[in-house]
Amino acid sequence: MMALDLIRALAEDAPIGIVVTDATIDSPGPIIRYANPAFACLVGRSLKEILGQSPRFMQGQETREETLATFKRALATGERFHGYLTNYRGDGTKYRAEIDCRPLHSSEGRIEHFVSFEREVIRRVGRPAPGTAGRYQSAGTGGAPLTSALRALSLFEEAYVEGP
Ligand SMILES: Cc1cc2nc3c(=O)[nH]c(=O)nc-3n(C[C@H](O)[C@H](O)[C@H](O)COP(=O)(O)O)c2cc1C
Repeated sequence: MMALDLIRALAEDAPIGIVVTDATIDSPGPIIRYANPAFACLVGRSLKEILGQSPRFMQGQETREETLATFKRALATGERFHGYLTNYRGDGTKYRAEIDCRPLHSSEGRIEHFVSFEREVIRRVGRPAPGTAGRYQSAGTGGAPLTSALRALSLFEEAYVEGP
């Protein structure tokens, strides 16, 4: 089974946004090859609108250029990107997205796809905990079984995983 088929099978019912692109970094890539229903819900667009687009469609005025540059560097060097971006939904409303993006390699070691786990987070009220962990919490309460699975895979930081 190809990695994309495997992700498709696992991601379809997942309560967290999962999006897979091809490995083209420069515009018009990366091109979205798969997104699960939770991703469509998160970004407020239909799967039909999403497939074939670049994830840049979620960007807007408050999307930080520096973070995008860091993201792009990670894609180019085949490293994991874990960070936060301001994304915009189909209706123009913005949200804070926690993004965990990794390359998927072929058996020859070539990058074939990127997969990103995305969810909405909200800033914690009050003084942030020491360090960066704990600045955000999940905006939703669902997904407990999946988040424990993701924690086991060390996707997302432990402090961010639990809902309110
Ligand atoms: C799998 C995947 C998911 C992405 N998700 C987002 C996203 O949610 N929001 C965003 O602004 N950029 C996202 N990007 C990053 C953009 O596609 C693009 O790489 C970024 O804008 C930097 O490239 P650029 O400077 O050429 O625009 C994602 C990239 C990949 C590969």
